[in-house]
Amino acid sequence: MAEQNIYILGIESSCDDTAASVIHNGKILSNVIANQKIHEAYGGVVPELASRAHQQNIVPVVDQALNQANVSKEQLNAIAFTRGPGLMGSLLVGTSFAKSLAYGLNIPLIDVNHMQAHILAHYIDEEGYSKPPFPFLAMTISGGHTQIVRVDSYFNMTVIGETIDDAVGEAFDKSGKILGLGYPAGPEIDKRAKQGNPKAFKFTKPKVDGLNFSFSGLKTAILYFIQKETKNNPNFIEEHINDICASIQYTIIGILIDKLKLASKQTGIKHIAIGGGVSANSGIRQALKDGEQKFGWTTYVPKFEFTTDNAAMIAIVGYLKYLEGNFTAQDVTASARLKI
Ligand code: KG4
Ligand code: ZN
Repeated sequence: MAEQNIYILGIESSCDDTAASVIHNGKILSNVIANQKIHEAYGGVVPELASRAHQQNIVPVVDQALNQANVSKEQLNAIAFTRGPGLMGSLLVGTSFAKSLAYGLNIPLIDVNHMQAHILAHYIDEEGYSKPPFPFLAMTISGGHTQIVRVDSYFNMTVIGETIDDAVGEAFDKSGKILGLGYPAGPEIDKRAKQGNPKAFKFTKPKVDGLNFSFSGLKTAILYFIQKETKNNPNFIEEHINDICASIQYTIIGILIDKLKLASKQTGIKHIAIGGGVSANSGIRQALKDGEQKFGWTTYVPKFEFTTDNAAMIAIVGYLKYLEGNFTAQDVTASARLKI
């Protein structure tokens, strides 16, 4: 690419992580995240508390990102920020901060769609990581999202499937809550599933047409199953926890892989990239690897720190938009339901 020495600060505040990152051309120099522990006590993100914590965290997080990158504010070429989708009170903090900083430094402002950013995180320069070629299918799976997107170029993307109710991460977290596990329960279910039998208990998969997903019925099925079993045996959960976790995880992975198979068949695309916190799941990683053998897929899973909510993915989109001269006016507003 012709342009050299472009420094961009990316800011992410759409949910419960306050994050900032500095990118130099396509390479990440710093990637700082302040997680908000406060929500653990509530078993989920409390929007009002999230926006307050962003207010406290944003200045130190941005300072730390600049320091770690060894870049001064004056060296920055643009400020990129998450405009949406997300929690309005959270988005407002990052949006207002980014606008003020760009205005104060008299440099361009670049708005970023959080869902596009999860996908374009695959274009961060990383040694040994091969970037997916266009067109590819991107599945974004996290506590807030479940989408399959057809990606034809950096900014030409089409959502071809998404959840009609809960996100897949919620399916893990809500099932975990029923089992008395801590929040978020995904990593714990993953760990226990490794020691359990995935076929010990059978949960029916939801019937949803096309490429859309539904996870709320699964949660209810698990709740009824546990209620029934603990009535007969109050120690049922304790005695079977690994098998229960393995069976839940097996069902969820089956749902995801079925839809990916269908999406690949319908579009004829075999390059498949995943992102979002749930892509850390060892079962889904294995299922994708198996897909390479079974269906001829080539799969792409980014480094974990670029796949959960982070600002490096905002910075890379900022860089790609900067190269196109695609800047944002100062009267931009946060948008909680921003679409791809
Ligand atoms: O991307 P992320 O950090 O935040 C957003 O939700 O946007 O994703 C968090 C979600 C939680 O629901 C968590 O339970 C899930 O990712 N998660 C996992 C694993 N690690 C994180 N789910 C299953 N297996 C894992 N290993
Ligand atoms: Zn996200």
